[in-house]
Amino acid sequence: MKPKKTAKIIDGKKISAAILADLRRDIAMLRDKGVTPGLAVVLAGADPASEVYVKAKRRTCAEIGVESFSHDLPENCTEKRLLKLIDKLNGDSRVHGILVQLPLPRHISEKRVLEAILPEKDVDGFHPVNVGRLLNGEECFASCTPAGCQALLQRSGYDPAGKHVVIVGRSNIVGKPLAALLIQKAAGANATVTICHSRTRNIGKFTREADILVAAMGVPEFIKPRMVRKGAIVIDVGVNRIPDQTRKSGTRLVGDVAFAGVAKKARAITPVPGGVGPMTIAMLMSNTVKAACRASGNASKRT
Ligand code: GUN
Repeated sequence: MKPKKTAKIIDGKKISAAILADLRRDIAMLRDKGVTPGLAVVLAGADPASEVYVKAKRRTCAEIGVESFSHDLPENCTEKRLLKLIDKLNGDSRVHGILVQLPLPRHISEKRVLEAILPEKDVDGFHPVNVGRLLNGEECFASCTPAGCQALLQRSGYDPAGKHVVIVGRSNIVGKPLAALLIQKAAGANATVTICHSRTRNIGKFTREADILVAAMGVPEFIKPRMVRKGAIVIDVGVNRIPDQTRKSGTRLVGDVAFAGVAKKARAITPVPGGVGPMTIAMLMSNTVKAACRASGNASKRT
């Protein structure tokens, strides 16, 4: 019997490393002009997943020559204190980008905090001004995970133009902005996009139509092989920690896609970890360099 073909693995680590290598050159150019890109990374509380993400973001800053300004606030810090910090960072010329890790402690309004960040320092692309500009197809900071998904597709040779992209998940961080990015009349876009969510009836009917399927709903291994069209490109945005007694830690990371089975049907698939995750950080760095270029009046090669 012929062995079953399995999907090509889209290597987010490798692609993000190439993006970071390009950024290093831009950063060297800025440094020659006396500018060091600066990113303030704000963490409120001690959510274990957020701590891991923030550490990775700060580490990447150090690796590529972005100065990171760390602000760790306690879980019980007041909204007023956080808003005061943002105000200070908005006025600090060494800080070109401000990132407030989400989720915030429950007593703090995410909306008030995100809206307090100056749009030109909003390298996460969460401020309504940037969200609106993204939808209008205008120059903006696009949020990092959607931009990372788009870059993964482009750089691995799967141009979404004319393709049917089905996104499962309608969050403000991934689903909605990714749809806005991919429907634009622009390079790396021009897709036909469908968004499915928890109230969609018969999700499989839609996902089986996808040339490119993006899973971003935060449900471990929700996308089963029967929900995927043979030959589809599958992008898994999910990061879920599930119990696994065979591991020393007692847990393991899985995406929103049942990887082993779906890999037998798909043409290409992103792994978890090592797929979209590293791309989110690469896009954050790219946005920070872009912000530093703009603030210092240097031409940015980043779009
Ligand atoms: N929490 C989960 N994803 C993100 C992200 O991309 N940015 C921020 N700030 N918080 C997050």
